[in-house]
Amino acid sequence: METRVDEIAERIYRLSTFLPAVGPKGLTFNQFLVDADEPLLFHCGQRSLFPAVSQAVASVIDVRRLRWIAFSHIEADECGSLGEWLAAAPEATVTHGAIGCAIWLNDQAPRPPRALANDEVLDLGGRRVRRLDTPHVPHCWDAGLLFEETTGTLFTSDLFTHAGDPKALTNGDIVGPAMAAEGSFGYTALTPATGATIRRLARLQPRTLAVMHGSSFAGDTAPVLESLAVFYDDLLAKGTAARG
Ligand SMILES: [Fe+2]
Ligand SMILES: [Fe+2]
Repeated sequence: METRVDEIAERIYRLSTFLPAVGPKGLTFNQFLVDADEPLLFHCGQRSLFPAVSQAVASVIDVRRLRWIAFSHIEADECGSLGEWLAAAPEATVTHGAIGCAIWLNDQAPRPPRALANDEVLDLGGRRVRRLDTPHVPHCWDAGLLFEETTGTLFTSDLFTHAGDPKALTNGDIVGPAMAAEGSFGYTALTPATGATIRRLARLQPRTLAVMHGSSFAGDTAPVLESLAVFYDDLLAKGTAARG
């Protein structure tokens, strides 16, 4: 198992492991390292990925320097190896939204978490991440995203999931492949708030979308986010009509 490392924005590193057996075309599992005075890792990866992913982090910084561990929501690929990371980085603190701390981390984390309020900013020294509560987007009640304000990088978690092992960074179409993956996996918890939540992300005017499964995107992100919002609005309308 090999984890590739690519710098997708200045001092933002994508750590990517391709698992060919997942789904019809295989799937990448990507974590992101924000290199700053207080380095932050967004997503831990499954426990089975820890040796390869920690080796990848070690190629950029000393793993013991990690100060923050964050993730979007409570699932194995997002936070399965949290315990391993906290053991490897004794100064690290896990941080999550208030709901996630209440329903999971306060009870399950090896060390007490730091809860971040919606829109609260964590100053990492040279990089600043803003916590965005996005309940049920892409899925799970505790879901949230981070926006790194210095580079304009939005960590989108499972939004824009697409299959296969595409290149690290693209300015091509990621919405079409994401719509196909939604058809294969049905992973989004569709609610009346889904489209509005994605449009709120567009208002941040990100320059890079750091995607957890598939290529990250650099370029004009507003139409890309709007297309995804329209897709989910339509999907919800069709589902509601079919039920009625
Ligand atoms: Fe997920
Ligand atoms: Fe995921």
